[in-house]
Amino acid sequence: MARIELCRLDHLDGDRLLVDTPDGDPVLVIRHGDEVHVIDAMCPHQYAPLLGGDVDADGILTCNLHGWRFRLSDGRSPDSEYIQVQRWPCGVEDGVVWIEE
Ligand code: FES
Repeated sequence: MARIELCRLDHLDGDRLLVDTPDGDPVLVIRHGDEVHVIDAMCPHQYAPLLGGDVDADGILTCNLHGWRFRLSDGRSPDSEYIQVQRWPCGVEDGVVWIEE
């Protein structure tokens, strides 16, 4: 696995930022409390952008097109074992958000 730097944590717009990986794949960086998560930027249902989805106190993001929900911690849906969004192993070092690919 290779570690890829995505963005500076202080460049997030509020709690999130849309970033392209070096491969050109859009991912969503989201800070929730003290944790940072990186998930696919598009909903797996009908590919609506997840950028505008609300995140509740439990760290569950809701797609604002049809309401599919995803836990930021693992990308899985709390509603169905068959639904999930890709989530990358990630972290922050020296203020820089990274993923492992
Ligand atoms: S596109 Fe996200 S729930 Fe339908």
